[in-house]
Amino acid sequence: MTACRPAVEEHIQACLASLSLECKVHLLTGASFWSTRPEPSIGLRSMVFSDGPSGVRGVVWDERVPSLNLPSGTALAASWDPNLAYRYGAALAAEARDKGVDVVLGPTINLHRSPLGGRSFEAFSEDPLLTAELASAYVRGLQDHGVGASPKHYVANDFETERFTANVEVDLRTLRELYLAPFERAVTEGGAWLVMSAYNSVRGTTMTENELLSTPLCTEWGFDGVVVSDWTAVRSTEPSARARQDLAMPGPRSPWREALVDAVRDGRVPEDAIDEKVRRLLRLAARVGALDVTAPSTALDIAALDVTAPSTAGPPPPIKDGPALAREVCAAGMVLLRNNGVLPWPVGGPASVAVIGEHAALSRTQGGGSATVLPEQISHPLEGLRAALPGARVGWSRGVPVHQGILALPLASLTDPDSAEPGLRARYLGADGQELLSENRRAANLVWLGTLPEGITTVELGTRYRATETAAMGLSVAAAGQVKVLVDGIPVLDTDLAPDGTSLGGALFAPPTAVVEVPAVEGNELEITVRYGVPEAIAAGRVAAITVGTSAPDWSVPDGIAGAVAAARDAEVAVVVVGTTARLESEGFDRADLNLPGAQDDLVRAVAAANPRTVVVINACAPVTMPWRDEVAAVLLSWFGGQEFGHALADVLLGHAEPGGRLPTTWPAAEADVPVLITRPEEGVLRYDEGIHIGYRAWARAGRTPAYPFGHGLGYTTWEISDLKVAAAMPGHSARVTVTLGNTGDRAGRQVVQAYLSKEGSAVDRPARWLAGFASVHAEPGTRHQVSLTLPARSFAHWDNGWHTEPGAYTVHVGTDAEHLPLSARISILPT
Ligand code: BGC
Repeated sequence: MTACRPAVEEHIQACLASLSLECKVHLLTGASFWSTRPEPSIGLRSMVFSDGPSGVRGVVWDERVPSLNLPSGTALAASWDPNLAYRYGAALAAEARDKGVDVVLGPTINLHRSPLGGRSFEAFSEDPLLTAELASAYVRGLQDHGVGASPKHYVANDFETERFTANVEVDLRTLRELYLAPFERAVTEGGAWLVMSAYNSVRGTTMTENELLSTPLCTEWGFDGVVVSDWTAVRSTEPSARARQDLAMPGPRSPWREALVDAVRDGRVPEDAIDEKVRRLLRLAARVGALDVTAPSTALDIAALDVTAPSTAGPPPPIKDGPALAREVCAAGMVLLRNNGVLPWPVGGPASVAVIGEHAALSRTQGGGSATVLPEQISHPLEGLRAALPGARVGWSRGVPVHQGILALPLASLTDPDSAEPGLRARYLGADGQELLSENRRAANLVWLGTLPEGITTVELGTRYRATETAAMGLSVAAAGQVKVLVDGIPVLDTDLAPDGTSLGGALFAPPTAVVEVPAVEGNELEITVRYGVPEAIAAGRVAAITVGTSAPDWSVPDGIAGAVAAARDAEVAVVVVGTTARLESEGFDRADLNLPGAQDDLVRAVAAANPRTVVVINACAPVTMPWRDEVAAVLLSWFGGQEFGHALADVLLGHAEPGGRLPTTWPAAEADVPVLITRPEEGVLRYDEGIHIGYRAWARAGRTPAYPFGHGLGYTTWEISDLKVAAAMPGHSARVTVTLGNTGDRAGRQVVQAYLSKEGSAVDRPARWLAGFASVHAEPGTRHQVSLTLPARSFAHWDNGWHTEPGAYTVHVGTDAEHLPLSARISILPT
């Protein structure tokens, strides 16, 4: 943790001394949905926070203020490359600065405990060490460029079901060795300026009131930053204020404010606790440049105000070419799971490609929920391939319906009736029906997170929609509240849509949908008006969401398979892009099973039978089963690939870039094999009874073989690994391991060498093996390299009311995934 200079601490103390109790307490609740309160008397401006974590949306959710959409967290993790994670953080810092954002709400460093996790796409891995390495690099990348990082969600927030209330029962050893470990490194090595406390409870206490906020976070790890709550997670006055919870977001409403002033006056919360919270808030402000440290309360040497005290010559400049980085990360994280030699395509590429699947034309570049950003443009696989193969015949067949629910009306078919510009006319009406604002919008799905103009009770959207086919169209509106629809001036729908459950997230990210059939004629325009009465409870928080669209085609009618098969038969190669949907991988819920939605498995099988050079691209972040995986020529896992997905995919298929990724999480063959699956709490409690045995550790312990193990990824060349050498280590010291790695293929490539430990005859329960170190190597064909891996002292330690290192022999296993570990050697930890 980089400390603030003493002069800054003195200045903060002087500021603190000048503030009244009311003023101090009010600083501890947000001023708005995304910002903190300013206090001009001490030169404190408001600080702006933004989601995150794979882009910086800024304070508005608005297609007119676009953001860089980097590949999702799991895609980054698949690169196993902390340097890339650093540059990812640096690119976000550049975005943040452009948008006036001081703090990015990321990285998400919960673990992939179960493959059913609906929000796993934001998180990195099932392994704490890999997560920790990437987390600390991401944090440094952001903060070296003056923007605060907020690793989240502290802690054990590894599922979404009942996410606001579930209590996780987990033993302390498991917490320390698995779930806390990435936060520890993000603080002690990354130097995080904030940590976000989670919604859930751990061991019976909700996280914003939990003792874990003090120990180990502050007392052991030396965290001197701000604990910001997850949005609305502060739900009490005294218990949360007495805990090491510093900032309640969002504002301006919160259970603190006046109630907390009273609690301090009555002696129920000590004023010292308030002072410490404010001190940390001001320290954050100094770090991000929001506190004018030249204000007159102390005379300061400006040159000494290097508040973050970066070590040496200063950080590299922030990454400015975000799209180029998005493309690089996407390729670097793609995992080639299987390849019978069809990839990469020969120089020049195929003469004809049958591109198949809904995801090929409308891919998922990111997961859903608060992580969503609105990119300026997206390259989908079909476009990417067409751009890369200008001389080839690249056709598209949809195959089977996959996307569920509502598909927003596409901008290309919409005209604003008022301005004749593309898009829709949004009119915002007050209680008396008076128009308070009118604007042109360029998207038919609109979200306001704390930004709905004040006093609005109705949002009216009007557009002229040019129909794309002659058929009855399922005109749909998704929103929570009163919805009226008029087509060509005639009322066709008037309904009150109740949200599913009581959560705000449900109303925003999975609102109920109403559908009405409307006859449409290709090329003709329909004048559509939607009046949305925003319920008071939602409008009070200045949040709302509405989508106007068509209902996605019915899954039970997979009538496009024959067309896809014919196209595949007629082309040199077939590329089938399959994936999950926004109803499956998103914040707010977990998945019910691991199947690809719809009839995608049938589609793949049929296409593979028609074309032996079928490549399947999986556009999902959480594992899906692939019953056809041995029937296809190649399987490439692209994750949610960010805005440059299509271009990066073309780079990889054509061999311009290597699919550099290795699995950060085990991919099972069948759901029944998965050792840790359950994400649904029982009577409010989710038990982590498997303890330290999750992911590949659990697979090895159960003696089961997954479809593709943790760490697996083929790349485009072949490797030979030999000559393992280890050196004995003293307890409390890291150990060194070296191997020789040869690139035996005819292409340059990158390999990730992985070292795992096991301890036979241990006095304590141990994982069958656990990742202890890794190193990535780039090698030209025919070259050999000595690779050195550092196994940190902590890799040998276990938690038993303190960190302990058992002396004696451990086995180091080295190889290229958790199951292919051809080299092993004994390593001794000497007794003290
Ligand atoms: C999410 C956080 C997010 C916050 C603000 C919460 O619902 O859990 O990850 O940063 O909202 O959007």
